Amino acid sequence: MHEQLAELRDRAEQVVAPDTWSYLNRGSGDERTVQEAHDAWGRYRLRPRVLRDVSTVTTELDLFGPWRTPIGIAPTAFHALLHPDGEVATAAGAAASGAPMVVSSRATRRLEDIAAAIDGPWWFQVYLMRERSITASLIERAAAAGATAMVLTADTPYVGHRARSAALSRPLPLTDEQALTNMRDHLPADVADIWELIDQRADLSLTDIGWVADVSHLPVIVKGVLRADDAVACAEAGASGIWVSNHGGRQLDRVVPTAVALPEIVAAVGDSVPVIVDGGVRDGFDALTALALGARAVMLGRPAMWALAAGGSDAVTAMLAELSAELAHALGLAGAARLGDLDPTMVTTR
Ligand SMILES: Cc1cc2nc3c(=O)[nH]c(=O)nc-3n(C[C@H](O)[C@H](O)[C@H](O)COP(=O)(O)O)c2cc1C
Repeated sequence: MHEQLAELRDRAEQVVAPDTWSYLNRGSGDERTVQEAHDAWGRYRLRPRVLRDVSTVTTELDLFGPWRTPIGIAPTAFHALLHPDGEVATAAGAAASGAPMVVSSRATRRLEDIAAAIDGPWWFQVYLMRERSITASLIERAAAAGATAMVLTADTPYVGHRARSAALSRPLPLTDEQALTNMRDHLPADVADIWELIDQRADLSLTDIGWVADVSHLPVIVKGVLRADDAVACAEAGASGIWVSNHGGRQLDRVVPTAVALPEIVAAVGDSVPVIVDGGVRDGFDALTALALGARAVMLGRPAMWALAAGGSDAVTAMLAELSAELAHALGLAGAARLGDLDPTMVTTR
């Protein structure tokens, strides 16, 4: 793990309430998936090229928007737990780094306020809620506020059992007003149980990709894919991107590390749709490995929340800048002047 990230994590632990810290960091089951995530990237070895002109190295890319770095922020819930400005601070931090930012359906600040802090492209993460009209309203608002892609989370028909986490959703120090910030305008009158209505649907299918595309008029990235055949099926059903993820080890435990799943998925979808990955990415070398294996962008879940808690938007910016600088340095030493110079022959497991 990058040294500065480890320091941020330690600083965050000092200031975050123990139950919140547990909610943030723990995983499901025996937490094998959480434990294996970062090490799985470290099992690859690099095969650098020599005698390439790397006098100018750039990490710029175009992926449903122009970015200065492929290291972005994965959607995570409830940033108000970590900082009074919540997602507005995270978004401002990402925007200052030119990094992709994905806003969660469970954001605790209004989508319009988050969008204003970015003043550029961003992506919106969609949980299909039991009451579909609430999801549709959120999608429409996100698109109107400037989102350039939708990320449909597909690995959460219901929330994984996190036995070791002291807190699930409700006992967290979060008011209903914060948790429902973006939903409350769209709730039907006289609802007996709001939480039931906004819970995830368990009956998602491939046709929902088209539904999100129709409502948003935007490209849809499917998040939570771990198999090549699922990736192909999603692409055939209209997905514009595949996001290889195991939800940071918070859903089904003992699933394959994303570092292991990524190559077969890239091989299966080829150039037809871009592939994004997250899970245990903690330094520029993890990012370089993922990008060489064929990911177009790599996303950070917990690290962004650690930075937010430790130092607000400035710390988010500094953390992204630090990891992106480490990536740029490693890119140059690997003989790649730009992300497009990477390919899977530049990594090996033996
Ligand atoms: C506290 C927490 C909340 C999360 N909330 C969401 C969410 O609202 N929507 C979603 O699609 N993924 C959510 N995720 C999963 C992340 O998007 C991402 O897949 C995962 O955190 C990446 O792994 P990493 O934390 O090791 O970087 C959450 C993860 C954490 C740790």
